[in-house]
Amino acid sequence: MPVTTASGLAPGAMTWVVVDRERVLLANVNGAFYALQDACGHRQMPLSKGTLEGHVVECPLHFATFDVRTGKLLSGPSAADVPTYEVQVKDDTVYVKRARPR
Ligand code: FES
Repeated sequence: MPVTTASGLAPGAMTWVVVDRERVLLANVNGAFYALQDACGHRQMPLSKGTLEGHVVECPLHFATFDVRTGKLLSGPSAADVPTYEVQVKDDTVYVKRARPR
């Protein structure tokens, strides 16, 4: 589903959007867009309130870090990986694929 414009999210920036009634973090890493669940794998803090350095997002609560390209936990307290979403960009529109039914 369309979530925003590509030109509205500068390289190095991130935001959050809603997909299937869930918060999804959307990040622009050097012109490539990545989406993952906007909830830390530790205590569910919104990762979009943290910081993005390159492809690494840091949780603002206990500072776990995740790779926004894969959702993999890189460091921090005992936390799980974060699910990712498929992203496509057509013209200036960013599309995030809906999560599969649970
Ligand atoms: S809630 Fe993110 S590291 Fe604890």
